[in-house]
Amino acid sequence: MNDQPLHGRIALVTGAGRGLGRELALAYAAAGASVICTARTQSELDQTVAEITAAGGQACAFACDATDEQQTREFFVTLATQFNRLDIVFLNAGGAEGDERPIAESDYAAWKQIVDMNLSTAFLMARDCLPLLRLGTDPKIITMGSGLGRTPRIGASAYGCGKAALSLFTKALAMELLPEGITVNELIPGPVGTDPDSFEPQYVEEGTFKGEYFKKPADIIPLALFLATQPAHGPTGQTFALNRRLI
Ligand SMILES: NC(=O)c1ccc[n+]([C@@H]2O[C@H](COP(=O)([O-])OP(=O)(O)OC[C@H]3O[C@@H](n4cnc5c(N)ncnc54)[C@H](OP(=O)(O)O)[C@@H]3O)[C@@H](O)[C@H]2O)c1
Repeated sequence: MNDQPLHGRIALVTGAGRGLGRELALAYAAAGASVICTARTQSELDQTVAEITAAGGQACAFACDATDEQQTREFFVTLATQFNRLDIVFLNAGGAEGDERPIAESDYAAWKQIVDMNLSTAFLMARDCLPLLRLGTDPKIITMGSGLGRTPRIGASAYGCGKAALSLFTKALAMELLPEGITVNELIPGPVGTDPDSFEPQYVEEGTFKGEYFKKPADIIPLALFLATQPAHGPTGQTFALNRRLI
């Protein structure tokens, strides 16, 4: 069995400083990819890169706010001086942090910030990665969706709307890039605990996530590897979910 199915591939992972993005970066590097890690916090990126290189993998880090058009452009200009292509782009950056208030009590700035974090990050990164991705082998984009983009939760409307739009963005991009042989798919992880100090995997007995199993980050890796290793004639415009509740 091939234990390095991404050998020779160049993968970009956004939001690679912590949580699921960190886990993805480590796993893709362990599978043989050269991993480019990006997020805003340089110290967290440096830690991810240090872990990868300590394990014998290849990685580098560039800090970039993916909601900032200028920074995103400059990031890809820099990448183009160091890499001649990209093969895999995992648009993982995002999150729900920032506002837990119901709509009536929320404010526009908080709304925009969360929608931007989950949608505009993907738009800017996807648009600007294309010149390098077009030069890749079996080039692919994977977006990180959420079940909350399918079913609402009080206090998570901006996040849910951002993720719902991201899902449609994934399909729109897949349609546009189909003639070029670039695939675009969405991975929905289901609830995952990302703080190793305060988290135990467990079934969820009640609430919005009733029926789910609260996973650890490593549990999403088999699907993330499956998506990263599909050929150009593989699935595109699809959602792959690890949920247990109906979404
Ligand atoms: N954990 C879950 O249960 C779960 C469930 C469904 C979906 N998801 C999705 O999975 C992804 C990762 O979630 P997580 O739980 O691992 O979150 P996390 O631990 O908060 O990590 C989010 C990552 O995204 C980066 N990021 C946020 N805003 C950014 C920006 N403007 N520009 C560049 N990077 C940015 C963060 O780094 P900086 O702050 O340094 O920029 C961080 O590296 C998110 O898209 C989230 O919505 C998570």
